[in-house]
Amino acid sequence: MDKTIIARSAAEMEEIGANLAPIITNGMVISLIGPLGSGKTTLVKGLARGLLITDIVVSPSYLLAREYAGRLPLHHIDAYRVSTLSELAEVGLDELLPPQSGVTAVEWPSRVEGIVEVSDIIVRIELLDDQARRVQISSN
Ligand SMILES: Nc1ncnc2c1ncn2[C@@H]1O[C@H](COP(=O)(O)OP(=O)(O)OP(=O)(O)O)[C@@H](O)[C@H]1O
Ligand SMILES: [Mg+2]
Repeated sequence: MDKTIIARSAAEMEEIGANLAPIITNGMVISLIGPLGSGKTTLVKGLARGLLITDIVVSPSYLLAREYAGRLPLHHIDAYRVSTLSELAEVGLDELLPPQSGVTAVEWPSRVEGIVEVSDIIVRIELLDDQARRVQISSN
């Protein structure tokens, strides 16, 4: 898969995430690449809705990872403050990478060598203006 979509609002970004849910299967990793405030967490909120998660998804920034129960367990990682896989292992988060159970969505995956490479789906978000984003979705 390789498609590019323009999201003109946060609601449209959530919709992109929700539309991804049907193709997600157990063990998948999704990398979300894009600058600060580009809408990575917003997309994960939609993905969570699509996975029938009813909890409110918030940015995992300060906890590094959060887990939600739905059609599949969703692990949401923010790797912004992490720089190596061994650092991730120190806090036990390497368990959320293959062969993990559930789906793992990672913001700032490029901070940790190896995450983008093991991802099944890579979402690249570009800021067009303060409301519009270009979203490129590719599968590995
Ligand atoms: N088209 C759009 N898509 C996504 N978010 C948008 C859009 N237009 C405006 N926004 C706003 O931009 C902000 C995006 O925040 P969000 O937390 O999703 O970004 P993020 O990429 O996760 O940031 P961070 O790198 O800090 O984790 C929200 O306030 C959202 O309402
Ligand atoms: Mg975020």
